Amino acid sequence: MRVLGLETSCDETGIALYDSERGLLAHRVYSQIALHAEYGGVVPELASRDHVRKALPLIHEVLNEAGLSVNELDGIAYTSGPGLVGALLVGACLGRSLAWALDIPAVGVHHMEGHLLAPMLEDDVPEFPFIALLVSGGHTQLVRVDGIGRYELLGESLDDAAGEAFDKAAKMMGLPYPGGPALSKLADSGDSTRFKFPRPMTDRPGLDFSFSGLKTQVRTTILACAVDGVLSDTDKADIAACFQAAVVDTLVIKCKRALQQTGVKRLIIAGGVGANKRLREQLRTATEAMGGAVYYPRPELCTDNGAMIAYAGTRRLLAGQQEDLAVAVVPRWPM
Ligand code: KG4
Ligand code: ZN
Repeated sequence: MRVLGLETSCDETGIALYDSERGLLAHRVYSQIALHAEYGGVVPELASRDHVRKALPLIHEVLNEAGLSVNELDGIAYTSGPGLVGALLVGACLGRSLAWALDIPAVGVHHMEGHLLAPMLEDDVPEFPFIALLVSGGHTQLVRVDGIGRYELLGESLDDAAGEAFDKAAKMMGLPYPGGPALSKLADSGDSTRFKFPRPMTDRPGLDFSFSGLKTQVRTTILACAVDGVLSDTDKADIAACFQAAVVDTLVIKCKRALQQTGVKRLIIAGGVGANKRLREQLRTATEAMGGAVYYPRPELCTDNGAMIAYAGTRRLLAGQQEDLAVAVVPRWPM
């Protein structure tokens, strides 16, 4: 079965072709970062308009790369939530209409299920059950995965998501949007032991997270270090390194706890923050020390992409699921 996947929930237009026999045939991601950078965050209306501009040309490109015609598609999957409603509607209307015109089934996919199943696109596929750490701009969740569609939420952030905390901390330090990758790069040259940042909620039982306090810690540290409102490059790098170490340590402690509590040996990391180098290294060391294994999608499949939607959609279509003709999106949608 060949399935076209469309991801338009936020500021990336992701288009991909997945074949249930041959795997991922082609994928393209167009990032709107430059469009939103001058506003310091995603402007929903601009995001929707840009998806309208980019989606069809990208579909054309992936079909060309795979050497397929549109008539050789067997199904279409699109992100139906959660996300920005206008942006979601672009992918949903396009996907549903194209499927209707081609007389093939269409299926709406939960964006976080896409992230959760992204490691299945790699050669080294984790067996079920596994624990998934979903860390994106909108979510921080630990989920037990027993099979496709069999997900149990073990813990989540009670306030800011990890990616959101990275972005907000970066903004306070004057780093360009999106802040996560920029802060992480700066942290490479900093001293992660200079300031004492807390590891929130690690001293009590449970698998929930809270990252908003770390943001406050960044603010007070900036105020303490700045001279006439200006931070030196060394101060900036050290604050970035201390902040990153605090987020990463917290995530690592909770992942270890989730593996211990469930007795599950396999951990997968998904979502944009999963591209963070320090997090990847530390989780590998921690799981291996526990006799377990960690699985990551390649960094380009950690951030938003169409391949994960095409994969999750293929599994759902193969299980007989499909949408009726009415187009529906769900901007707020627990998994
Ligand atoms: O999954 P994603 O692409 O979009 C959402 O569904 O949110 O995640 C985006 C988030 C942003 O907050 C971004 O700053 C963060 O992932 N991110 C990173 C890194 N790369 C992306 N955070 C820390 N370190 C990185 N290397
Ligand atoms: Zn995402």
